[in-house]
Amino acid sequence: MAYINSLVQTIQDGLNREALGDSSSRTVVTEAVDDLKAQVDAPWDILWETRFEILNSICKRLAIETGILHAIVTRDGNPITSSELAEKTNLDKQFIERLIRVLTARRIISEVDVCTYAANDVTRLLDTPGSIAAEKYFFDFLFPIGANLIKCVKDGGIHQFPTKDQKGPFEFTFGAPIFDFLEANKEYKVVFDNLMSGRREGTEVKWFHTYPVASELASIRSNSQSETARSHNEVESNGDPDPVLLVDIAGGRGHDIYAFATEFPDLPGRLILEDLPSTFANVDSARLDMLRSAGIEMLQYDFFTPQPIHGARLYFMRDICHDWPDAECKRFLGNVAKVMTKGYSKLLLDEHVIDDVNANHRAAASDMLMMLVLTGIERTRSQWKELLGSVGLKIVKIWPNRRGQQSVIESELM
Ligand SMILES: C[S@@+](CC[C@H](N)C(=O)[O-])C[C@H]1O[C@@H](n2cnc3c(N)ncnc32)[C@H](O)[C@@H]1O
Repeated sequence: MAYINSLVQTIQDGLNREALGDSSSRTVVTEAVDDLKAQVDAPWDILWETRFEILNSICKRLAIETGILHAIVTRDGNPITSSELAEKTNLDKQFIERLIRVLTARRIISEVDVCTYAANDVTRLLDTPGSIAAEKYFFDFLFPIGANLIKCVKDGGIHQFPTKDQKGPFEFTFGAPIFDFLEANKEYKVVFDNLMSGRREGTEVKWFHTYPVASELASIRSNSQSETARSHNEVESNGDPDPVLLVDIAGGRGHDIYAFATEFPDLPGRLILEDLPSTFANVDSARLDMLRSAGIEMLQYDFFTPQPIHGARLYFMRDICHDWPDAECKRFLGNVAKVMTKGYSKLLLDEHVIDDVNANHRAAASDMLMMLVLTGIERTRSQWKELLGSVGLKIVKIWPNRRGQQSVIESELM
């Protein structure tokens, strides 16, 4: 009982601190709530709750596909009855009530009267392109993969990092690795792209807020004599007459570096976006103009080849290492380390950092998702230390994000 009381106290204190503007207390509160629930639930409850999670996925997916979700959201705060929903969707009224009941119990939709529903913040978020794509991605890929896993184990085992003659769980089920599958199934390519951009453009905390650029790069700002944006010549640098502030390696279509450029328009130094020609080929002219007008230079580059930009202040990679096994990571991280300037350049990785002990559930589950769908891996704190150390880099600090979200790993030459 003493432990339960202390958890309740932690929750109360954390909420009070949050009300006073301390955003970091949210993590403490949610962790205490999880612990409290585990204390209160019987073992039977814990197991049954996990078994029933699959039904939540099924009901969300059905609510999306049948139009029920959208019909509730487009009422814009006004309640809608199951009879009205039946009329709108041509579905059986009782079926609708049974389906929605699971979602109201999970607070995903609100039930304001008998069989009368209203959208809440979760309902509205679920009815956005990014969330719909996430539901489809998880459901349409993980259900078939899950159904095949036992066969996969019996047919030669699960290959975490398949060689050329082996198949990962996705290929075992869908006949091709995911990116080949997406090329051949454009409907799912749209799902994947919407999921990626939904994550980037949604409520996720930006990496340059997790890693406090404003304070960490204060020396650059104060040493700059220039009033003009992106002036290259009067910056604290390693002697480069045209210093580079940030290289976003494999930065895709530039969403992260563009957000950085608009957030810090007067931080001097060049901004360089690197990615494969095939990725840049999909950038339309309006987006090209947008990137260029923000001062972003685009450089076609394969990260398995030597890095052409030497001595930049920041090299940034988001969600790249988690796609690759250690051997490949060592090759491209080594290419960055070779061009970093000691005591000046930093490599920032925006990735999950799984705690070595008592890992957060979301981070641990993201790792399984990476393995099952992409034959990738989310790494633990010690694995990051070892990987970066193997290419001559040391971790300066891991800047934590909200619970279960990605951190920024700050590293520099040893
Ligand atoms: C998961 S996406 C991440 C993109 C971006 N950093 C983000 O977080 O949205 C992986 C990116 O790596 C790029 N990529 C894959 N192989 C590459 C290579 N050999 N050299 C450079 N970029 C590569 C892809 O084109 C893609 O843009």
